[in-house]
Amino acid sequence: MYVYRLASILDDLERIKSIDGDGMRNHLGRLPEFCEDAIERADKLEIPSLVKVSEDLSIQYTRPKKIIVAGMGGSAIGGSILKDWLRETLPIPIEVPRSYTLPAYADRDTLVFAVSYSGNTEETLRCFLEALERRCMIIATTSGGMLQEYCHGIGIPMVRLPEGYPPRSALPYLLLPLATSLRKLGVTLSLDGELEEAIAVLREVVEEVKPDTPVSKNPAKEVALGLEGYIPLIIGSGFYESVALRMKTQFNESSKTPAKTEVFPELNHNMMVGWTERRDLTGKFSVILLRDQQEPDEIRERIEATRSLVLDEGAARVMEIWSRGRGKLARMLSTLYVGDYASFYLAILYGVNPTPIPVINEMKRRLEKAGNKRALRKKYKKLTTG
Ligand code: F6R
Repeated sequence: MYVYRLASILDDLERIKSIDGDGMRNHLGRLPEFCEDAIERADKLEIPSLVKVSEDLSIQYTRPKKIIVAGMGGSAIGGSILKDWLRETLPIPIEVPRSYTLPAYADRDTLVFAVSYSGNTEETLRCFLEALERRCMIIATTSGGMLQEYCHGIGIPMVRLPEGYPPRSALPYLLLPLATSLRKLGVTLSLDGELEEAIAVLREVVEEVKPDTPVSKNPAKEVALGLEGYIPLIIGSGFYESVALRMKTQFNESSKTPAKTEVFPELNHNMMVGWTERRDLTGKFSVILLRDQQEPDEIRERIEATRSLVLDEGAARVMEIWSRGRGKLARMLSTLYVGDYASFYLAILYGVNPTPIPVINEMKRRLEKAGNKRALRKKYKKLTTG
């Protein structure tokens, strides 16, 4: 009866609209379109061969030997997805430090993507300035803020994003320009129609997961129902590690719930033991396994063994999301898309507006009061006036 009542909430479009007061459902539905627009915007990017920052500081753009994606939260996840997507084909390393500082190896041969949707995230701005100081090649992706000011001030190449979206719903803008810019700098990437395939697969998926597809045929609503009242534990393997992280952060920000990730095969070396004695605690988790028809045999065996050894008994529920498509990007984004919608429906079940993230904003406000931005402006001025 209870489950039936919950299911009927998810098929009540008027109720969904009234809870989703800021229209997250509209942004979600536009993911395939955002992919196309992101590629178009990135195509227009012109990368100069030299940027003169001041009399004695200039940056030369050549083929990079290392890549760093500097960003936080919703602006960093594109970097993690890029890293997983290109892991087997990209001839150079990528790191996503999610920190105030760049790794020691960042130098003239390093390309730093400074990614901040708002353009005002202080960790990213600090990395940007450090990258300038170290003469790294920089490409920025932003919708405005101080990052845009910095780029316009000295001519750093920048992909301009549309304003007004929560960063997490602008994912294609924070991911795809990174891949296309790499090509412009001469990095060989064999994407073989992957972008086009991914967009086509997302168009199919959205039909299944959108609000007017009823629970009985909607995998995202089904996942949300299985999570209600429990802590989502998302388990990925291989290149699904970043997808699992994306899902966790979507459950955090949109559904306003704690959530956790684990990854195969590492979890077989630690997490499992924590699941052997305390059913009272593990029973608070509802598990989502990220599955792939092409997953290696050894991973499939591990998933099956882990289910039978601990998960099936220990968790409140174990669910699976299977990827769609042939290429890696399609498989990653199709999985992630079901997760995005599941986090939206879980918010609806909890009666919370998926869009606002007041506690993150409050945190940023508190730090701003501490005058950190003033220090950033001072440093930028010093670097650019020599
Ligand atoms: C996601 C979100 C945060 C931000 C993060 C960094 O919707 O709001 O995770 O992405 O606080 O801010 P930006 O993306 O503006 O650099």
